[in-house]
Amino acid sequence: MNPLIQQFRAAGQGHVFAFHDRLSPEAQRHLLSEAAEVNLAELATLTRTLLQGQGAVGVNLEGLVPAPYEPRPENGGDPVAWAEAKAAGEAALRAGRVAAFTVAGGQGTRLGYDGPKGTFPVTPVKRKSLFQVFAEKLRAAGHRYGRPLHWFIMTSHQNHAATVAFFEEHRYFGLDHGRVHFFRQGRMPAVDFEGRILLETPGSLALAPDGHGGSLRALERSGALDLMKSHHIDTLSYFQVDNPLVRCVDPAFLGWHLLTGSQMSSKMVPKAYADEKLGHFCHQHGRLVVVEYSDLPRALQHETGSDGQLRFRAGSIALHVLDREFIRQMAGGGGTGGLGALPFHRADKKVPTVDAAGAPVKPAQANGVKFELFVFDALPFARNPLVIETRRADDFSPVKNAEGVDSPRTCRDDQLRQFARWLKAHGAPLETDATGLPPFPLEVAPSYGYDEDSFAASWTERPAAAVTAGLYLS
Ligand code: UTP
Repeated sequence: MNPLIQQFRAAGQGHVFAFHDRLSPEAQRHLLSEAAEVNLAELATLTRTLLQGQGAVGVNLEGLVPAPYEPRPENGGDPVAWAEAKAAGEAALRAGRVAAFTVAGGQGTRLGYDGPKGTFPVTPVKRKSLFQVFAEKLRAAGHRYGRPLHWFIMTSHQNHAATVAFFEEHRYFGLDHGRVHFFRQGRMPAVDFEGRILLETPGSLALAPDGHGGSLRALERSGALDLMKSHHIDTLSYFQVDNPLVRCVDPAFLGWHLLTGSQMSSKMVPKAYADEKLGHFCHQHGRLVVVEYSDLPRALQHETGSDGQLRFRAGSIALHVLDREFIRQMAGGGGTGGLGALPFHRADKKVPTVDAAGAPVKPAQANGVKFELFVFDALPFARNPLVIETRRADDFSPVKNAEGVDSPRTCRDDQLRQFARWLKAHGAPLETDATGLPPFPLEVAPSYGYDEDSFAASWTERPAAAVTAGLYLS
């Protein structure tokens, strides 16, 4: 018998091959290659700890206090230190030390869009996709600092081919395709509540992406870290695929990170309201941690200080800067319990599977568990981890849901507010409502302005003749 099948039997996972003998030789090979991806020892540990509740389960709240952060100048931060940070970040960009990194391997189930999320159209006038927005921002930043940027994009097994095809079709949006690097993230098997691996079909396992935290080991495994090293890139600017407002490479953020000798830095925004669904930056026994909104007790989320502000107000918006060798260190510790290993989290999901006869089952309720790694779990392992404040309007408006909060609609409006704010700051005649929203759609291409500074430079040279509906500045 195939030794892999024997190992699965010994691990109590022999059912994975229940239909093996019925499969064609090609299908058998496919099933075996998927099985070979599974780390049975890791899975056994996860079953023990996360499913059977032995070992450390749940979030330990002992000694949790709000984490300090570097406030923006208008909120009491030191303007000189911010200016120094910006200058240091600009110098790093000019020296070619920085690469951009987008995690785009998620399944985007909440949005319910058919296709990789990065291909979703978001801009108000031109309906540019998320990938196009980032590509144009990176291209413009490359011009500005005289060093074209390398861009790493993490995909999943499900969306890799479609993502690469999209870039090919659009000729990499004007980027040098030799500087755009795609790699797939790892997968984890979904299991039932007893820890038995679920089959998606008689000939394939139910495999799911291993979470955005899987990016650290995927960066190592794919050779991305070695590639960075060979190009003398030591700093990675990390952002998510769903947030077109993001400053893909923000000089002040990069500079703060470099000047403080931080191995992993993060941006925070003050939570808009106590129940806002953002993770919280906290300190625990001297280490920086992010506690998810679902894990921080409601009473703590609502607690206010003597200034009337929320005590646990530092919300995480999934923007990080990471040191290359720190990523390598974390990736090396991956797997089961090695030094620096990120913990897996459990998510109960509806996992399409098959019944005992091999017929498809579409569950109406959660029937299984997926295991995911979170990138912010690397923070407690980082030296000098730093959190800086950013303005939400400059960095954060994700597309998560089809409707309501964090939807295409709210994201479009936030882009419009940003464009309107830049225009009004330069005296353009534009009426906006009390929230800063203009009365008609308009759009600023990243080639014209992708942040306040670049917009100001273009406006000084070639201001718009008129600001009317459908204005497109490029
Ligand atoms: P989300 O937590 O929003 O998950 O991912 P999602 O899978 O995109 O969407 P839902 O929950 O199914 O609706 C945040 C970011 O992390 C990336 C996503 O692509 C997104 O940029 N991500 C998430 C990965 O790259 N891999 C993963 O396994 C999970």
